[in-house]
Amino acid sequence: MVLNKSIQLACPLDGQSLSLHERCFVCANGHSFDLAKQGYLHLLPVQQKRSKFPGDSAEMIKARQRFLNAGFYDRIADRLIKTLRSHMQLNNDSCLLDAGCGEGFYLDYLYRILLADGVQPGLVGLDISKSAIIAAARRNRGITWLVASNKQPPLVPQSVDVIVCMFGFPVFDAFKKILKPDGKLLLVEAGPQHLIELRRIIYAEVKQAGLPDLSAAEQLDFELQAQDALTYKTAPLGQLQIADLLLMTPHMFRASQEGRQSAAELDQVELTVDVSLRLLQLNG
Ligand SMILES: C[S@@+](CC[C@H](N)C(=O)[O-])C[C@H]1O[C@@H](n2cnc3c(N)ncnc32)[C@H](O)[C@@H]1O
Ligand SMILES: [Zn+2]
Repeated sequence: MVLNKSIQLACPLDGQSLSLHERCFVCANGHSFDLAKQGYLHLLPVQQKRSKFPGDSAEMIKARQRFLNAGFYDRIADRLIKTLRSHMQLNNDSCLLDAGCGEGFYLDYLYRILLADGVQPGLVGLDISKSAIIAAARRNRGITWLVASNKQPPLVPQSVDVIVCMFGFPVFDAFKKILKPDGKLLLVEAGPQHLIELRRIIYAEVKQAGLPDLSAAEQLDFELQAQDALTYKTAPLGQLQIADLLLMTPHMFRASQEGRQSAAELDQVELTVDVSLRLLQLNG
């Protein structure tokens, strides 16, 4: 695991800065955290866990990795990078956090594009699922991977330039704390038409939910700076890919038995991808 100089990790127990000694991160109060041999750091104390294995399961992570590696969401990654680039200058001194990074597909994509341009900012991916972070560390050793929670991201206050939160669970007050006073938060969320063809099959009634309200963020001095949407049709998905998609998304758990059965019987389907990108600027 690489620790870029722009990344300032904090002890999850008392918020003190962590420094690296051999393969161990220690704080001034003597708490220490070993670098796992797979190349990640576990900074989630038991008292911050609601269950023994929080977050997405190993099975969900494998399904997401297969699906993303097949390229169906590459255009989302491209748009993510385009949005970041049009609103900020990422350089070797920048620190970017992917909060709820899953198995690291988007952060790895970003790493490669920036590296090709000769730019190596500090990239941190955190996820509450240990299986996700083990898969992420296997994907890319040049990124700092943490088992940790969005509720208490273990980074020093006001040390992060930008947080991306993709299909995840933003915690605005915790994000504000670690962002620099003029930091940014990019929310990538499912839009109303996202995977609509599949939702029509698995649900008796499709709910047309709008995007989550931002008033909680606005009360914390986040201001909507830019909003964009990306809509396209995927290449045809076969049976295995449909199964992976159902497994990697929350739909699987909410669908009825008959709904899941109908989806499993599909031979092939082209799906609408509808994604919203909202960039929030902190006015601290
Ligand atoms: C729908 S997945 C999205 C993963 C990734 N951002 C992507 O788009 O491929 C949501 C992720 O959030 C993680 N997660 C759930 N609760 C979390 C928390 N409190 N802190 C950090 N990650 C969390 C899950 O383990 C899962 O990997
Ligand atoms: Zn400590």
